[in-house]
Parts: sequence; C-alpha cells; structure tokens
Amino acid sequence: MTRSTPHSRNGTRHGEMTDGGQAVRASAARALAPVIAGKGSLNDLDDHQVVARDRALFKALCYGTCRTLPRLEALADRLLKSPFKARDADVQALLLLGIHQLLYLRIPAHAAVGESAGAARLLGKEWATRVINGCLRRLQRESAALQAEVDRDPAVALLHPRWLLKTLRQAWPEDWRAIAEANNVPGPMTLRVNRRRGDREAYLSRLADAGFEARLCAHAPDGLTLETPCDVQALPGFAEGDVSVQDEAAQLAAEMLGPVLAPRPGGRVLDACCAPGGKTAHLLELFDIELVALDSDAVRLARVEDTLARLGLSAILMHADATTRDWWDGTPFDAILLDAPCSGTGVIRRHPDIKRLRRPSDIAKLADLQRRLLDSLWPLLRPGGTLVYATCSILPEENSDQVGDFLSRTPDARDTTPTDLSWGRPATIGRQLLPVVDHHDGFFYARLNKAAS
Ligand SMILES: C[S@@+](CC[C@H](N)C(=O)[O-])C[C@H]1O[C@@H](n2cnc3c(N)ncnc32)[C@H](O)[C@@H]1O
Repeated sequence: MTRSTPHSRNGTRHGEMTDGGQAVRASAARALAPVIAGKGSLNDLDDHQVVARDRALFKALCYGTCRTLPRLEALADRLLKSPFKARDADVQALLLLGIHQLLYLRIPAHAAVGESAGAARLLGKEWATRVINGCLRRLQRESAALQAEVDRDPAVALLHPRWLLKTLRQAWPEDWRAIAEANNVPGPMTLRVNRRRGDREAYLSRLADAGFEARLCAHAPDGLTLETPCDVQALPGFAEGDVSVQDEAAQLAAEMLGPVLAPRPGGRVLDACCAPGGKTAHLLELFDIELVALDSDAVRLARVEDTLARLGLSAILMHADATTRDWWDGTPFDAILLDAPCSGTGVIRRHPDIKRLRRPSDIAKLADLQRRLLDSLWPLLRPGGTLVYATCSILPEENSDQVGDFLSRTPDARDTTPTDLSWGRPATIGRQLLPVVDHHDGFFYARLNKAAS
C-alpha cells in the first residue's frame, strides 16, 4: 500500500497540529476498539461526534487502520513491553492508529506521534501518553528493521487473517495474491446514471462542467467511475435522483436480467434480498416492471424507501423472511433476483472490517442460508421464468458450488448464464468477477431458467 494524504474539504492537510487533532484521534480510537475486537462494524461509525472539518480524517483513520490491522498489530506486539489490559482496548486502538499514520498516511511524523500520544489524555488515560509516545518514537527509529521482521509472515505482509488467505489460496491458486493486493486498495467511486433522466455521456459532460474527472465503465452501460471520490451531495443532480453510487460489478445484475425483463413490460419481479436497494433501483430505472422488493432487515429496508423516493421510483416493499413463504400472495413471479447474504469477500476493499468480523465458521452458515433461500424462492417462479443468483463473494462454496448443488437437486432448473460476456470469467457454473484495482468489486452471477411446464 502506498501512503495517502487525507485532506479535509476545506483544504487543510490533516494531521497538522490543530485543536481537534487529539480529539479526532481519541474519537477514532473509541470507534475502532469494538471493530478491532470483532464486535462492531465500520458501518456503525458515527462521524457526527467529530467536527465537520475532521470527518474526512476520522474516516481515513478508521478505515485505513482497519485495512492494515494485521501489520499494525504485529508491530505493536514488538513495540510494547507487555500487551495492554483488555480494559485498555481504546489505548491499543490509539497505538495502532499512530502506527498507521506513521507508515501509511502523509501526516507529518511529529503530528502523528504527538497528537496520538496526547489523545490518550482525552481517553482519561494520561499514563498511556508516555507508552504511546515511546512506542511510536521507537518505530520511527527502527522502522525498516521492524517492518522487515513482521513482513516475514505473508499473512501480515498481505494484511489478511491467516485463515482467509488460506481460503483464497485454495479457491484461486493462481490469483490469490492479486486478490489480496486488490483487497488492500480502496475501491474507486463508481456512479450509476439514472437512465430515466438521461444517459451517461450527458452526465459525463455535466460532471466535467462541475470540475469532476470521470471515465466510462467498460462493462456496465450506465456506469461512470470518478477519478477522485467525493461527497455524494456534491454530485450534480444527486438530490434530484439523476445519479447513484454503485460499483460496476453490482450494476451487472440488471444486465443479467435485461434480456428477460426488457421484452416483457409489466412483468412481475421479486427482488428477494433487496436492501439497501441499489439493484432494486437500477431495475426500476431500466424496466417497466411491477417489483416486489423484500428484505428481512427493517432498518435496511427503510433505506430502500429513501433511495426510491430520491430517484422518483416505486416498488412494493415487504419486510419479510425470504426463507419462508408466509408473505407470498400466491401469484408467481416472472423473474427473481436473489442477491444473497454472503461473506462479502469480493468487497473487502470497501469494507475492510470484514477481515476482522468474519470467522471461518461463517462461510458454511452463510452457504446454508443461501441454500435455504434458493430452495424457498424457486417455487415462486413461474414455469419458464428466470432467477438470477448473485453474491459479492469470491468463494466457490457460496457461488458455483452452491448453484451446482442447487441444479443437481432441482430437476426443473437449468443454467442459462451467458457465455459471451465481456466481464468476469466462467466458473464451473455462473460467472465470477474478482476484485480489480481501480475497477470493479468481486461478484458472482448465475442465471437459471425454470422449465416451461
Ligand atoms: C447482499 S445484501 C443485498 C444488497 C441489495 N440487493 C442491493 O443491491 O442493494 C443481502 C440482503 O439480504 C438480506 N437478508 C438476509 N437474510 C434474509 C432473509 N432470510 N430474507 C430476506 N432478506 C434477507 C439482508 O438484510 C441484506 O439486506
């Protein structure tokens, strides 16, 4: 990973000594401690506790520290005479934040050390200022030797937990290293232009007029990738629903369903695991369909409602468990999108906490849930109908193996995944995208057709 310079929106370089320098680090340490313990998610970060000027730094510190955690922890182990007590997890987080700043952020070293150590006072742990200061100063002196020492372990050098690296290696013997490296680089900000309100070429010129550099996505026909991420509210027409943020790989769900939905206006479609609604919205932007959008998480479902309102679209929203059928009115669907809950191993670069939160045992549990979802939803499809199965996982157990097992126990199901696609690579069944630096996330798609009766 290269060093980056997080700037605040007012243009000050973060980390220069400011009144808030210690406060933002103390807030980041408090926010990160549960994530480091594997008990909290970066999705729950509350940056409102941080003054607006420091929010970009707060996010960069939390995400960056999480991304580089295995290496930071290995270095902290060597720097500390004895580990911190469990009740001082916030101080441990502060030390890791300090190491991250010294190694990965273009923050002046005196600020990284001084503000991180000083932040211990704001945590009510004055005693820790000397410990953190001592550790960070030693890291400055012995940086090259200490880094070389910890990097002897490939799991540390590649910033992944050992079990995950092993799993990736088994699944992708040729690609595992490139996958791990791609996971360590933040994903680009990709946009989806609302085709009901214009095309992406026109939006590209609007972006240029507003001073944003962007390029057309190679595979997703509504996609544009910004050269530099920005606050969504700064995007022309965002509030009016002209554009949304969505990775290129995620936009391909609509491509998989296009040949089925475009010729059948009024078709009845189920988006079975819809929240937060990216694919729901894309389908409604492209096709005149009656869409039932269902999710078992009420909080996430509320986000679908907000998104559709912003985009001026509508769907029948249902809060229900798709492994049951008690919510179904008995009318079959022409098409079903099952964007299944999964390990998220294709989107680690956007959610680096996945590396800490996921346990090896989760994969089998998720595969079991995916199996139950497939079995429960298939009977809801009309004969001749189409189901697209998608995940943002890159593990065969959740993808081609999962669909292969489904096909072998479901006599009226047939794999109709196109073979002439410009994107991804053919898997034993379906199409697999691996994460690519500066381009799309890792994703899996399979299209299945139900025999006409
Ligand atoms: C990968 S996310 C879906 C992303 C969404 N399709 C999009 O494009 O924005 C998986 C979703 O499945 C939902 N989910 C998990 N188990 C479910 C179940 N048994 N029934 C319905 N939804 C479920 C989760 O709440 C989560 O919102």
